[in-house]
Amino acid sequence: MTTDIKARVTEQTPTRLERIKANTREDHQQIDDLVMAMKPFDSRENYGRFLALQYCFHAVMKPLYHADDLNALIPGLSERSRFDSVCADLGDLGLATPRDHSGTSAPLTGPGRLGWLYVCEGSNLGAAFLLKAAARLDLNDGFGARHLAGHDEGRGKHWRQFVEQLNGLVLNADEEIAVQQGAHDAFGFFHNLVITDRKVAA
Ligand code: HEM
Repeated sequence: MTTDIKARVTEQTPTRLERIKANTREDHQQIDDLVMAMKPFDSRENYGRFLALQYCFHAVMKPLYHADDLNALIPGLSERSRFDSVCADLGDLGLATPRDHSGTSAPLTGPGRLGWLYVCEGSNLGAAFLLKAAARLDLNDGFGARHLAGHDEGRGKHWRQFVEQLNGLVLNADEEIAVQQGAHDAFGFFHNLVITDRKVAA
């Protein structure tokens, strides 16, 4: 009887990923609204501004994807970085390497980096929607919108692998909090990029 209750509670307890998602729902909605307000798919010029933000985000994420300790925890992590695809997209569109005006960066040590990775990996899920919209500008996963492409294995499958890897890590209570905070900070970073872009463009 006790075992049954325990099993049910375990089943119902939200996973680490479900908790991060719930804790950052509002952060994501704000980013979604801010990015759509840029009307990124109304013109290639607007898309170029969005791509510049993606460049800045993926550039600060790059050292996390290549960190030895994180790759030991999450095998295959370095292959998930989309930084090179963002650079190729800029090249396709003949755009110069953007400058990051935000003056902030991602942490280079500590468990908070796992939260940042959640945000970056999760953004590839929503990218399915963005890739469809990019077709309006004649952009696709082979030209200009490479970084929005799904993985060859399938977008959902690739994401679920990451979810399993992240959920499988054994973390103490402090580390758990740091992960949640890291996800919040990563959304905050992107938020800051959009706001800074607005100021620079004004
Ligand atoms: C206009 C811009 C955006 C739109 C319309 C959008 C839309 C979406 C959608 C529809 C999903 C759910 C996909 C699914 O469950 O199949 C999603 C997931 C997600 N997006 Fe976005 N997104 C946008 C921008 C971003 C940005 C810039 C970031 C990161 C900085 C981001 C981070 C995430 C994350 C972390 C998830 C995964 C949530 C989870 O299931 O745990 N999104 N997005």
